[in-house]
Amino acid sequence: MVAEISKGLEDVFIKTTTLTNIDGIKGILRYRGYDINDLVEHGTYEEVIYLMIYGSLPTKEQLNTLKEKMKKHYNISSDLLNILAKLPKNADAIGMLEVAFSVLASGEVDYKWKPDADKEKAIELIAKSLSIVANIYRIKEGLPVKNAVIKESYAETFLNVCFDKPVPKEFVNVMDKALILYADHEVPASTTAALVVSSTLTDMASSIVAGLAALKGPLHGGAAEAAFKQFIDIGNVNNVDSWFNKHVLENKERLMGFGHRVYKTTDPRSKIFKRFSETFSKYNKEVDRYYQIASKLENLATNEFSHKGIFANTDFYSGIVYYGLGFAPYMPTPLFALSRVTGWLAHVMEYVEEQERIIRPRAIYVGIDRRDYVPIDKR
Ligand code: SDX
Repeated sequence: MVAEISKGLEDVFIKTTTLTNIDGIKGILRYRGYDINDLVEHGTYEEVIYLMIYGSLPTKEQLNTLKEKMKKHYNISSDLLNILAKLPKNADAIGMLEVAFSVLASGEVDYKWKPDADKEKAIELIAKSLSIVANIYRIKEGLPVKNAVIKESYAETFLNVCFDKPVPKEFVNVMDKALILYADHEVPASTTAALVVSSTLTDMASSIVAGLAALKGPLHGGAAEAAFKQFIDIGNVNNVDSWFNKHVLENKERLMGFGHRVYKTTDPRSKIFKRFSETFSKYNKEVDRYYQIASKLENLATNEFSHKGIFANTDFYSGIVYYGLGFAPYMPTPLFALSRVTGWLAHVMEYVEEQERIIRPRAIYVGIDRRDYVPIDKR
C-alpha cells in the first residue's frame, strides 16, 4: 500500500450518503434529491427536518405529528437555563452553545444507538436547540431568559423567544428559509468532526459538541460572523476599493464569505441570501448600506478570484439577512449552528446505523528512527 496524504482530506470520501448531494462545478445543492431552490421556494424548515430524518417529504399528518413531538421539547430545563445565565454576557456565543450541549451530554448514560429511538432523540435535540440558541441570544443582550411560547412554526417560535416585540410574518418567512439553507451540506469539517465522535458510539449531544467546536472557526461557520463584520469595518460603499486593496490584495488576508472546498462557482445558497438581502435593503437603510458594500465587494472579489474558482459562499450575505431580522453581528454563526444541528444528526445517524466503523486514520511517520535511551546526566 503506497501511503499518501491528502492535505485537509481534499477529495477523500469517508461515507456514502443519501442525504445531501453537492455539484461544486454546476453550483447545485440537493437534500434527498430536492433542489435547494425548490425547498426554499415551496418548503418549510419542519418539512426539511422530516425529509432529512425520515427520507421523504411528509404528508400533512406526518408533518403535524412531527410538529407536536417537537413542541414537547422546545423548552429546556431551568437548571440548564440557569447554567447558561451564569455565563458572562461577553462569552462567545458558540462557546455557550458548546456548554449547553455538554450539559445535555452529561446526562446521557444510554449510549445504545437504536434506529427508531435515534430519530426521536434527534427530533428532541433539534427542538431543544431552539431555546438554547434563543436564550443565549437573550443572555448576551442582557435580557432575562425566557421559555418558548409555542407558535405556528419553528421559525416563529424561535423569533418569539429572541425578541420581545411582535415579529412581522415576512421576518418569520425569511428565518424559515434561512433555517432550510443552513440545514445540511454533506460532510464539511463540522459534520466530519461529529462523525468521528459518533463513530466511537458516544451520545448524540457529544457529537453536536464536536460539530460546534469545528463550526466555530473562521475558516468554517465562524466566517458567517466574520464576513458581516468585514462590512461593518468597511463602513461605507466608497471605502470598498481601498479596503479590498489593503486587506486582501496587499495584506493577503482571506476574504471571509469567499471560497469553498467544493464549490468552484457561486454557492447556490449565497444567491438566495443575496436576494433576501436585496429585499431587506429596500425597507431598511442600514441593511441597504451593508448590502451596497457587500455587492460591490462581491464584484471586486469575483473579478479578482474567479479564475481560481473562488466565489461567494453561503456566509457572504447571510449576516446581512440576520441583521435585517434584528440580530446582533455575533449571531450569524450561532444561527448557522441552530440549523445545522439537523444535518449533523442526520449524518451521524446514517453513519452509525448503516456503516458503523470507528473512524481511525493513520499518520505517515517521518520522524527519527529507533534511538537508545540516554540517562539525563549524560545528555
Ligand atoms: C462554510 O465545507 C462546507 O461545505 C462548509 C459550508 C457548509 O455549509 O458547511 O459550506 C460552510 O464553512 C463555507 C466556507 C466559509 N469560510 C470562509 O468564507 C473563509 C474564507 N475561505 C477560505 O479560507 C477557504 O476558501 C476555505 C476554507 C473555505 C476553503 O479552503 P481550501 O479549499 O482549503 O482552499 P485553500 O485554503 O487551499 O486556498 C486555495 C487558494 C489559496 O491561494 P494559493 O495559496 O493557491 O495562491 O485559494 C486562496 C488561497 O489563498 N483562497 C482565498 C480564499 N479562499 C481561498 N484567497 C482569498 N480569500 C479567500 N476567501
